[in-house]
Amino acid sequence: MHRLPCTDRAERCTLKTVIPLAELASRLPGRTRLGDFPSPLEPHPALATRLGLRTLLVKRDDLNGRPFGGNKLRGLEWLLASVTPGIVTMGGYGSTWCAALATAAAGTGRQVHAVLFPQPWSRDVSGALSRTLASANVTLARSRWTLPLAISGVWRACRRAGPVTWLPAGGATPLAILGTVNAALELVAQVQGTLVPRPEAVVVPFGSGGTAAGLLVGMWLAKAPIDVYAVRVTDPWFATRRRILGLARDTMTLLAAAGAEVSPGTARLYLIGDQLGPGYGHSTPRAVLAQALFAEAGISVDLTYGAKASAALATLAGSFRHLCFWNTFDPRLTAPSEHEHPLLRRAREQAEKLWPHPK
Ligand SMILES: Cc1ncc(COP(=O)(O)O)c(C=O)c1O
Repeated sequence: MHRLPCTDRAERCTLKTVIPLAELASRLPGRTRLGDFPSPLEPHPALATRLGLRTLLVKRDDLNGRPFGGNKLRGLEWLLASVTPGIVTMGGYGSTWCAALATAAAGTGRQVHAVLFPQPWSRDVSGALSRTLASANVTLARSRWTLPLAISGVWRACRRAGPVTWLPAGGATPLAILGTVNAALELVAQVQGTLVPRPEAVVVPFGSGGTAAGLLVGMWLAKAPIDVYAVRVTDPWFATRRRILGLARDTMTLLAAAGAEVSPGTARLYLIGDQLGPGYGHSTPRAVLAQALFAEAGISVDLTYGAKASAALATLAGSFRHLCFWNTFDPRLTAPSEHEHPLLRRAREQAEKLWPHPK
């Protein structure tokens, strides 16, 4: 597969190329290097034709690090440099955020406590949970309703043991979002100076909203007229346009303190709400089709996030010619584990009790 070059190969290893944000913000907070940037940007002509587009670029954030990558790795670079030894967070049983955090924090002297709520069971859920269980203390809530109580119990116990940081679902904090602001600058630099048409919009899954917010702020910072289409994959009461704009505003405040003033530019934010289906973690027929289509092009998208976002491309093809799909999911994070942790079995039983497999 042909990959677009980075703007300046000679400078590839210097901070300003790897972190273009450093060129615009002189007082950035500390960062722990985890990723391998810029992540590749690939044109996929055959997939574009199948979808009815002239150009489809795929930003391969699944390849942005080793031993794992994905959209959460970008935020973890900034978060890990600032957190206390104790960390409490939450997510679904198969949260890739919790899996990424637990894996990245392992061996750094930090202990992650993940409080997880049930979601429909799948191979990816099992793989992500195995990874979280390998490095974090996991508490399984039996339902979403008992989650707040479970979090408060874990939080109080951790507080008694020492300093602790709360990281919200998906790690969506302004500090983490700096990673995705940088990713947008990276994309703009990769497209500049090539013959590939600039995408009119990027399409991204919308879970906690940090990724969409960071891309929007990054487009504003780069003064790039590239819209952000956020495809909702979780509850409509939580995943609102207002939420993304609030995260974007808080990130702009942080950027101003870091020496980079950003004001809203021509890039706009749009929310796509019709791909969610029955809810978070439930597959939909359109997502299953999109997953198969992307698999033919060698790209693995998961049913919770990437497949729903990629399913939206076919509809958007009616209004756009050149799009960029932001590939956030790294299957290395959800690879099956040899060792079955006792809590894995308990989680599967609970999930299958709530959402029995169709006979
Ligand atoms: C693979 C993957 N894609 C997309 C998302 C959504 O990103 P965000 O939570 O920043 O909206 C997540 C969130 O956990 C994720 O794990």
